[in-house]
Amino acid sequence: MVAARYDVLGIGNAIVDIIARADDDFLLAQGMRKGAMTLIDEARAAAIYAAMGPATECSGGSAANTVVGVASFGARAAFIGKVKDDPLGRTFMHDIRAAGVAFTTSPAADGPSTARSYILVTPDGERTMNTYLGAAQDLTAADIDDAQIAAAEIVYLEGYLWDPPQAKEAFVKAARIAHRTGRRVALTLSDAFCVDRYRDEFIDLVRKRMVDIVVANEAELKSLYETADFDTAVRALQRQAKLGVVTRSEKGCVVVSPEALEAVAAFPVDRVVDVTGAGDLFAAGFLVGLARGKDYRTAARLGALAAAEVIQHIGARPAVSLQALAAENGLAV
Ligand SMILES: Nc1ncnc2c1ncn2[C@@H]1O[C@H](COP(=O)(O)OP(=O)(O)OP(=O)(O)O)[C@@H](O)[C@H]1O
Ligand SMILES: [Mg+2]
Repeated sequence: MVAARYDVLGIGNAIVDIIARADDDFLLAQGMRKGAMTLIDEARAAAIYAAMGPATECSGGSAANTVVGVASFGARAAFIGKVKDDPLGRTFMHDIRAAGVAFTTSPAADGPSTARSYILVTPDGERTMNTYLGAAQDLTAADIDDAQIAAAEIVYLEGYLWDPPQAKEAFVKAARIAHRTGRRVALTLSDAFCVDRYRDEFIDLVRKRMVDIVVANEAELKSLYETADFDTAVRALQRQAKLGVVTRSEKGCVVVSPEALEAVAAFPVDRVVDVTGAGDLFAAGFLVGLARGKDYRTAARLGALAAAEVIQHIGARPAVSLQALAAENGLAV
């Protein structure tokens, strides 16, 4: 095995977030499914943008947020994802590199514009996402660099990659290279409705051990195993997965391994401003912990710490150094 150059390499949809506050009536009037990620076309994107209030633009994308979190912990991170060579795409490229993440995927010269997610944050801090995939659709297996995958301790993949038709080939290629070179593969289930779209394929990935580490929230896990009962879903995961972690918002998370179920508390937060990125940043801390050989509880605490930071401000990327925050909390990585 070659020496690892990265702790975590993420592959996902490269998206710029356009975030505005909205009340529940706005979601209702727009027919939006609160808390979910809904795919939209360009016309709908224009209509939502015209209707929404003053917005903040920041680079996002689930796996991209996670690797930015990994870098903020002082760990080594890389990202593969597709933007277009347009203003938003250049912003995305700048931001991810400025955060210390290796990002070398070549941008598309033509075709659809860089992906955007129109995110409405309601007064309760919940986020509702409307995503135009645009250039992210054009990520293909050709964008997967074998040597880069082989150099990552953990390759982290988004379930959302199942939406753009060719990206799943990139996903499968990356997972195969990772396993051939002795690396671990992690998957986030991304969104309960995304699980609904690809349930059988996701279960297959877990059962066939194409994936070593499953990251999910409670709704996604229940959707995966088509049950309303959390314990039933957790036991199903325990039977099928090598390792899993299930997040439960303010209730923390449960680490699921064949030997044990371990509940780990959330870090208390005074005021939740915007939950966008909670799951992504949890994954960052958890994966950094695993990549650095920490025990499951410590990894989960690192995840909870990063998630607690990101939900106290607008946007899905850390506003402070997670490395410093971890050290202050006795969790130095
Ligand atoms: N209200 C809260 N207070 C403290 N910690 C929280 C709160 N909400 C979320 N977290 C932290 O974030 C982690 C992930 O949250 P959650 O289970 O809601 O994921 P998610 O639904 O994927 O989030 P996202 O909105 O980013 O998709 C939790 O395990 C917890 O550590
Ligand atoms: Mg999530």
